[in-house]
Amino acid sequence: MSFVSSLLAQMTLKEKIGQMSQFNNDDDEKLENSVKNDDVGSVINEVNIDVINELQRLATQESRLGIPLLIGRDVIHGFNTIFPIPLGQAATWSPELVETCANIAAIESSNSGINWTFAPMIDISRDPRWGRIAESLGEDPYLCSVLGSAMVNGFQGENLSDKNSIAACAKHFAGYGASESGRDYNTTNIPENEFRNVYLPPFKALADAGVSTFMASFSDLNGVPVTGNSWLLNDVLREEWKYPGPVVSDWGSIPQLVTHGFCVDEESAAFEACQAGVDIEMASDTYAKNLPLLIKNNKVSLEQIDTMVNRILLLKFDLGLFDTPFTESTLLEEKLNSNHLNVAKQVATKSCVLLKNSKQTLPLSKAKISSLAVIGPLADDGYEQLGTWVFDAKPSQSITCLNAIKKHVGDSVDVSFSKGLETSRSINQEGFNDARQIALSADVALMILGEEAILSGEAHCRSNIDLPGCQEQLINAIYETGTPIVLVIMAGRPITLEKVLPKVDAVLFAWHPGTMGGPAITELLFGETCPSGKLPVTFPRNVGQIPLYYSQKNTGRPASDATFVDINDIKVRAPQTSLGMTCAHLDTHFSPLFPFGFGLSYTQFEYKNIKVNKHLVNIGENVEITVTISNVGNFDSEEVVQLYIRDLVGSVTRPVKELKGFQRVYLPAGQSEKIVFTVHTDELAFYNRQMKLKTEAGLFNVWIGSNSDTELKTEFEVVIQQD
Ligand code: NOJ
Repeated sequence: MSFVSSLLAQMTLKEKIGQMSQFNNDDDEKLENSVKNDDVGSVINEVNIDVINELQRLATQESRLGIPLLIGRDVIHGFNTIFPIPLGQAATWSPELVETCANIAAIESSNSGINWTFAPMIDISRDPRWGRIAESLGEDPYLCSVLGSAMVNGFQGENLSDKNSIAACAKHFAGYGASESGRDYNTTNIPENEFRNVYLPPFKALADAGVSTFMASFSDLNGVPVTGNSWLLNDVLREEWKYPGPVVSDWGSIPQLVTHGFCVDEESAAFEACQAGVDIEMASDTYAKNLPLLIKNNKVSLEQIDTMVNRILLLKFDLGLFDTPFTESTLLEEKLNSNHLNVAKQVATKSCVLLKNSKQTLPLSKAKISSLAVIGPLADDGYEQLGTWVFDAKPSQSITCLNAIKKHVGDSVDVSFSKGLETSRSINQEGFNDARQIALSADVALMILGEEAILSGEAHCRSNIDLPGCQEQLINAIYETGTPIVLVIMAGRPITLEKVLPKVDAVLFAWHPGTMGGPAITELLFGETCPSGKLPVTFPRNVGQIPLYYSQKNTGRPASDATFVDINDIKVRAPQTSLGMTCAHLDTHFSPLFPFGFGLSYTQFEYKNIKVNKHLVNIGENVEITVTISNVGNFDSEEVVQLYIRDLVGSVTRPVKELKGFQRVYLPAGQSEKIVFTVHTDELAFYNRQMKLKTEAGLFNVWIGSNSDTELKTEFEVVIQQD
């Protein structure tokens, strides 16, 4: 008998239900008693190492069977050292860096006694109004799968039982990002085919990558809230995918089955969640209160409970908690580790996306400018640059743009500063005058604007995603001075920038860049490094275009420049059927403001000679696609080379483009390189009408380029081999 099975055999029902209960620590004494009494198996939101060690002592030495605790925390984009928000990390398109960030977060958080993080969030996010897009890895299933798996590897390390490894959690299973109108917690209606082709692949990838836990989403999925959705949690996750680990509910999502109108009372909610296979209840006590009766009345079987508790104990075993429940701190709290800070700077640098750079305004040169006006509420705010989901970092340890710029330019450039607006939401324009004055006497106005941290993240959704408050007016006021404007935006989501773009000379989109945002941005602005971030999500022109994503379907009447009609070009009383008649709005162009994958550099890259190694590809074989990329500009730089395909005809219609590969390459100025992508026909598979994952024969277009709007294309044909 294994260790876990023999432990399980000794447990009372009360102890088993205790393992299924996760407590939020809002009362130390109550929690300590619950631990001693075996009423709790995991704790959320305790980060004090002494308290955690004491809880582990009570669990292992003063409870009847000595079972250690899972200690969970939302370690989302760093713990003490804060990296860019996940959406920013996704803009690096670097699985290596994303893995390193997660690894450092695991080192720092495990040092406090944490052994489980509720990350990564791999919800496909195609609605920038949704505040949680900040926590996501963007809109694309492939990018999300690759980067999400990298995060899991970073958190979990080689071996879960290593001192610095923590369990990861694939969340929120599934479809949460499709919340109607981008309002958090809202209903999701996703046809099964789209669900399987778009929303599930990252979760499947993480299950395959060995993620230790899954979290059930808060949301209602096609009428059945996920927390009580047996089809999703049992049939798909456990039966189809053979996922062996525990599923945790979201915060209070079991009692919320009553609020959804799915269950009549909490007893029924506990029953449905248990039937669906939610093993751990987060923060509420529906299981503790109702499972004993449900078991007594034979509605829930003891075997079922044993299966669930077995998963939880196995996780504790894999984490090595039975051997080493205690944590010995090895990192100094007062000072951040310099290696961690270096990584934070590198990731922030590679996450920034250059959206505009007219007349080569950037990079700035210390030799060419003698004065710089730094303007904006986010230029010198160590708290706001950290972004959402930051609990355990000290904002005083952040390096702001203003500080980093002053340090960088020393005495060679005269730097003046004015906030212009008190916060990103302010509508009081009293500070405009001061900002205008410093802009008037400067060579360049550097405006650092965007969204405060609190405007994105859980429950922080916006119906209008323009720059908030009076920031557009502030840009207009500085524009009127005639001083060139470099705009840096820190935000937790795409911002609709169509109106401000003509007023500014350059735009660097920095997301919420984290602790080292200041130095990273400064080095980019002054050309010490070259921008290389690429958008992991489409930037719309205005909210009316949402949902807008690159991998849309073609429709029967695709929009085109030839057919597009602008509202202002329509003659009065024009006949109904005389115009356009394609899939477009009249009052905005059908294209996005910036496409998925977009990002400029200070240098220019040229792509040519796209080739396939064979035109006919048998099912089961690889096809190689090559391209030559040349750095024809003047800066050494990295570039993210992207490969897209289109399956021209499918038994279910296929997107006009799908990302199937990417490589971040470094190319010195003047050099060329041949880039090779290998695609197996399995990677071209999709869920068909029978919900089977199949590659279909037929013609494929394939593109390689620097963003999803690339035109360099070739083709190959997938064929079924005849014997
Ligand atoms: C609710 C959020 O949806 C989830 O992502 C998070 O992990 C839990 N709260 C715990 O804070």
